[in-house]
Amino acid sequence: DAVVALVPAAGRGVRLGEAKPKAFVEVGGTPMVRLAVDGLIASGVVDRIIVMVPAELVEAAVALLPAFDPVGRSRDPSASGGGCGGFLSPSTVQVVVGGAERTDSVRAGIAAAPDAAYFLVHDAARALTPPEMIARVTAELQAGHPAVVPALPVVDTIKSVDATGVVTGTPDRSELRAIQTPQGFSAELLRAAYALDVHTTDDAGLVEMLGAKVRTIPGDPLAFKITTPLDLMLAEKLRSAGVR
Ligand code: CTP
Ligand code: MG
Repeated sequence: DAVVALVPAAGRGVRLGEAKPKAFVEVGGTPMVRLAVDGLIASGVVDRIIVMVPAELVEAAVALLPAFDPVGRSRDPSASGGGCGGFLSPSTVQVVVGGAERTDSVRAGIAAAPDAAYFLVHDAARALTPPEMIARVTAELQAGHPAVVPALPVVDTIKSVDATGVVTGTPDRSELRAIQTPQGFSAELLRAAYALDVHTTDDAGLVEMLGAKVRTIPGDPLAFKITTPLDLMLAEKLRSAGVR
């Protein structure tokens, strides 16, 4: 029952504001997308990885991503490039072209994995996600929960506002969670969700539209999404302190 990880890495990184697309920005000398893929491999639970990147960066991505051996689930972290399949020869780490919206990128990844029994959808920008958390999401999936997402309590009070910025409400914070990735789904459920032609900021949002039950499990602060320059500074600091 193949566990296929889909790694959306085709965004532009407008909020980070670097010259290159965010997933290719280095954190402590290593591009985010490589760190994210290394984390998935290190989890030991993934059979195949499909990375979605901007069209002009397919070759660059192939060159910087590792190969791994899903049978022994062993890997050589120093082995870079060469082992990736691109379009022609599907391999354990495959690169495909993403789309204009994150939803389009994930849809492209789903299309490249007709063999999947389970999908893990994992943002390249969550580059420091602990492999242990990836394994926990997968264990819940394999225990029979068809939709599993990591969640953290929110620390700020969250308010809704109208178009002019006037507060319209304050939801009870104890009922709110910040949602991370990887988000895990039975392949059947995720394919059905993506048959809906709508855009959402996360994959569970689509699954919810089908009325399916989405289970939360504890997230991890280290799975934060590198979105702004401040996040990048934090990630650099963490790496120099020995976090992956
Ligand atoms: N992503 C993608 N395809 C898109 C948009 C986003 O694959 N069309 C990916 C990003 O590369 C990232 C993840 O989805 O790994 C989460 O998105 P986000 O943090 O919003 O990244 P960007 O869209 O690159 O950043 P921004 O919104 O600031 O431009
Ligand atoms: Mg974005």
